[in-house]
Amino acid sequence: TLVVLDFGSQVTQLIARRVRELGVYAEILPYHTSAEKLAARAPRAIILSGGPSSLYDEGAPRLDPDVLKLGVPVLGICYGLYLMVAGFGGQVERATHREYGPAALTVGRAEGPLKRLRAGDRLGVWMSHGDRVVSLPPGFHNLASSDNCEHAAVFDPERKLWGVQFHPEVTHTERGDEIIATFLDAAGFARDWSAARFVDEAVAAVQARVGTSGTVICALSGGVDSSVAALLVERAIGERLHCIFVDNGVLRKNEREEVERMFAGRLHNKLIVADARERFFAALQGVTDPELKRKRIGATFIEVFEEEAKKLGGADYLVQGTLYPDVIESVNLRGASVTIKTHHNVGGLPERMRMGVVEPLRELFKDEVRRLGLLVGLPEDMVWRHPFPGPGLAVRVLGEVTPARCDLLREADAIIIEEVRKAGLYRQLWQVFGVLLPVQSVGVMGDGRTYESALAIRAVTSTDAMTADWARLPYELLATMSARIINEVRGINRVCYDISSKPPATIEWE
Ligand code: XMP
Repeated sequence: TLVVLDFGSQVTQLIARRVRELGVYAEILPYHTSAEKLAARAPRAIILSGGPSSLYDEGAPRLDPDVLKLGVPVLGICYGLYLMVAGFGGQVERATHREYGPAALTVGRAEGPLKRLRAGDRLGVWMSHGDRVVSLPPGFHNLASSDNCEHAAVFDPERKLWGVQFHPEVTHTERGDEIIATFLDAAGFARDWSAARFVDEAVAAVQARVGTSGTVICALSGGVDSSVAALLVERAIGERLHCIFVDNGVLRKNEREEVERMFAGRLHNKLIVADARERFFAALQGVTDPELKRKRIGATFIEVFEEEAKKLGGADYLVQGTLYPDVIESVNLRGASVTIKTHHNVGGLPERMRMGVVEPLRELFKDEVRRLGLLVGLPEDMVWRHPFPGPGLAVRVLGEVTPARCDLLREADAIIIEEVRKAGLYRQLWQVFGVLLPVQSVGVMGDGRTYESALAIRAVTSTDAMTADWARLPYELLATMSARIINEVRGINRVCYDISSKPPATIEWE
């Protein structure tokens, strides 16, 4: 494997991803991982990520100096480059101004990371740094420069140290993939890793994590992440896994049935379905504040889930479908300790029930999980299902959440999805759904006056939900959806289209 040491860069995860795309398995570890611990994993190569700090910041993250003496090739990117240079007696100083964005790189010596290029080549690269290398330690060759940066790529063939000031992992850097591939090849990787191998490795890792006894439970929502996580764990330990699906009453149309159907025959133990609809509605009664809705739903979920786990005689491990982007802050650079904040879909449960956590997808991105889903046998339909928030329709029924209002939204939402699928646009969208507004407006139907609810259609494109744009759906499609909803869903007489991007709006309305 290849280990990426994370110094807190926003694009650290991209490094691992590029490496995987190039056929090498990469995992990310925090920057303070000791050389000894690293050696135990026997990595064939190490990449030091960039980071937001200056070497001269108080408490700036440091590297165990022995990491550079393990004898394996090390590629330092940006902050990683400074550590390497400073570690061997070179000079790094705070730049007078930060350089951020595109820069033109001129290749001087085509060796090391730039081996596949030619002297004199010019390359558009992406920079983001506040320090700069002033002088190189003996043994280092300077390979390239840009207007603001004399040492933009360096190489020490003896110590097998490779450094770049720019970010080869971002798509804005031309031929960045080749630069990383050159490093991987020089490190002697076979480049034969694939998602299929990930399955085998993840299965082995789960087996190692949960040992040979004890009960493992999984909160299965039917979404891609928890489904793929469950199927991987199923492969690893079969009969020790129990999957629990909680029907909270705020699901999409036919959701429970679809999940039941999907997992029938795919699991050793029958899927446990807890019908807790009434409990959730009772907990939501009179609640209009979005955060309170989330809290009530979270708390009720935990109650129900805990009860089901008790029926099984307790559990030792909980499977979660956490993905890389859910690991919101991988490295805390302020204190000495590292906090790993994960997006607890089942908030607080592992601590409360004293269970270990199994997160087989922690290193992956959504699209990687989708590919994996196909490999572990999830049907195409399920793999491409849009994300659905844990609090479900409760955060899409603005105002009080009642069974009747949920029914209204569920029907309209099903029409929206059906029409988008028919138009062949479902996969191009990150999410599309309806939002039931807490306003009523006047309409006319036949000879009568109506005074009914308004509904908004929300459709967005996105790659990671961090930013999103409203989708330019064809007018004809909007027309069909609107006409069908108003005609078929009694209680809605007006349909609007949400044309806000994120930021400043969010994808969900609450
Ligand atoms: P926003 O609305 O913040 O949503 O732009 C970003 C993504 O997260 C989903 N989302 C949630 N998922 N619990 C979840 O599990 C939540 O409380 C929650 N709120 C939003 C949302 O659907 C979108 O994909």
